[in-house]
Amino acid sequence: MEEKTNWWKKATIYQIYPRSFQDSNGDGIGDLPGIIQRLDYLALLGIDAIWLSPVYPSPNEDNGYDISDYEAIGEEYGTMEDMDRLILEAKKRNIKIIMDLVVNHTSSMHPWFQAAKQDVNSKYHDFYVWRKGHAQEPPNALTSNFGGSAWTFVPELNKYYFHLHAKEQPDLNWENPTLRKEIYRMMNYWIQKGIGGFRLDVIDLIGKEPDALITKNGPKLHTFLQEMNQHTFGPYDLVTVGETWGATPEIAQLYSDVQRKELSMVFQFEHINLDKQPGKRKWDLKKLDPQELHQVFAKWQIELANKGWNSLFWNNHDLPRIISRWGNDREYRVVSGKMLAIYLFFLQGTPYVYQGEEIGMINYPIHSIDEVDDIESRRMYAQRLKEGYAKEDIIASINAKGRDNARHPMQWDASKQAGFTTGTPWLAVGDASEINVEAALKDSNSLFYTYQKLIKLRKELPILIEGSFQTFPTSHANVLAYTRSYGNTEILVVVNFSSQEATFALSQTPYTIKEVYIHNYDKEINDTLLPYEAYAVRVK
Ligand code: GLC
Ligand code: CA
Repeated sequence: MEEKTNWWKKATIYQIYPRSFQDSNGDGIGDLPGIIQRLDYLALLGIDAIWLSPVYPSPNEDNGYDISDYEAIGEEYGTMEDMDRLILEAKKRNIKIIMDLVVNHTSSMHPWFQAAKQDVNSKYHDFYVWRKGHAQEPPNALTSNFGGSAWTFVPELNKYYFHLHAKEQPDLNWENPTLRKEIYRMMNYWIQKGIGGFRLDVIDLIGKEPDALITKNGPKLHTFLQEMNQHTFGPYDLVTVGETWGATPEIAQLYSDVQRKELSMVFQFEHINLDKQPGKRKWDLKKLDPQELHQVFAKWQIELANKGWNSLFWNNHDLPRIISRWGNDREYRVVSGKMLAIYLFFLQGTPYVYQGEEIGMINYPIHSIDEVDDIESRRMYAQRLKEGYAKEDIIASINAKGRDNARHPMQWDASKQAGFTTGTPWLAVGDASEINVEAALKDSNSLFYTYQKLIKLRKELPILIEGSFQTFPTSHANVLAYTRSYGNTEILVVVNFSSQEATFALSQTPYTIKEVYIHNYDKEINDTLLPYEAYAVRVK
């Protein structure tokens, strides 16, 4: 059976965190006209779509992931005309816009919740999850992702409502068919505008059954998604990617197997959790074992081949910068960034690049909690202080894993506010003296051009889309290797995941190099690997 390749299989998707991308009016907050100004830059990079983190009206308890109106644009970001113009201008450059769909919860300021809280007889009351109780004792012990109980008491109603995030983010009740219809109607409104798809925020939570203590992967989750697919994006050529912290490869197949008509793919986080102590929270650090990382990627590559589709990413707005995390943000910043990119882009799946990743932006170290905006870090800080943790240790955790690391403004040039704003930025700008777009574009050896090349290769080489994946054994703990094969062609990818030299005895393998696709050092490829050396070559 001849199947046509979906556009998003060859595509690279670029994530924009609008608040921090480009300010156009000097209020210190990035906005839609700012993004439009930078579309030519993104076209030069070669990306196919932009995943836009939320730009809807929001009280910003969680920076836009608490939406108070799904069909409008937040004042600080611009107007609906700006949004239409962004879709149009992007389209002229063959770039699609993917909207962030946050439908596990709304803001507590959403009119639905306001009505729900006011009147138990309102049709909106049942849009949320309520349980009877008394002030002293929540219905059960479920906790919220940002700390504390998942239940908040409303004395006037003598009831609790449920929230898996902040209390300002009440969870929607997906059991209610009228609610589901409203959501689908809203999604169709955006589809009619000509967007390219949706990223579905914490979508694995919508099937929750709080009475049974089930939060993620609830029994009706996939039924809801099939219904959503049928009523909204199903007939269109859109990309849909679900954020699923609880996905195993088996579960990811359920979402992304074409036959099941759910989503194009999901973001899974197994690799992202490898540097935390087992059973603990992300703040409790553990050193990454590169072999373990390789095994996890291999497992996902193999288990989703022909039975789904992978998303490939190192970064997003919730994660620390990958070069600071698993590369080297000092002397090997550029070369380690290239290694990480090469490793990822030759895998099977759709790669995602988070703003600033392509110029090698690094973490932003803080010294005091006053420098932190992120609700998650702030709540964790307060909680751990109470539990008796030392301040320095909590700050160290925030510096390693805090979400603000990725949210400091995009660095466009070496000027005072890095070209992000002419005013006072909402969150401080990092050191842009060396790391900025202008410098990257001038330097033909920069990380930017590695990303540009990799994005292009994914369009030119069918083997990258279709080819099968296999790990290739190495005799060194820090050296990771794999092959991709398709027809008579075979590609070998070798990376040194460390700042020490290592060996990979290419001369002892059955391979000879036929063509070098990419290599992050200007030297011959031989059996010695320099720090973070990485290459991808055709061997057949
Ligand atoms: C997702 C978002 C994150 C947000 C949370 C609640 O994990 O990526 O930024 O805080 O959902 O909406
Ligand atoms: Ca602005």
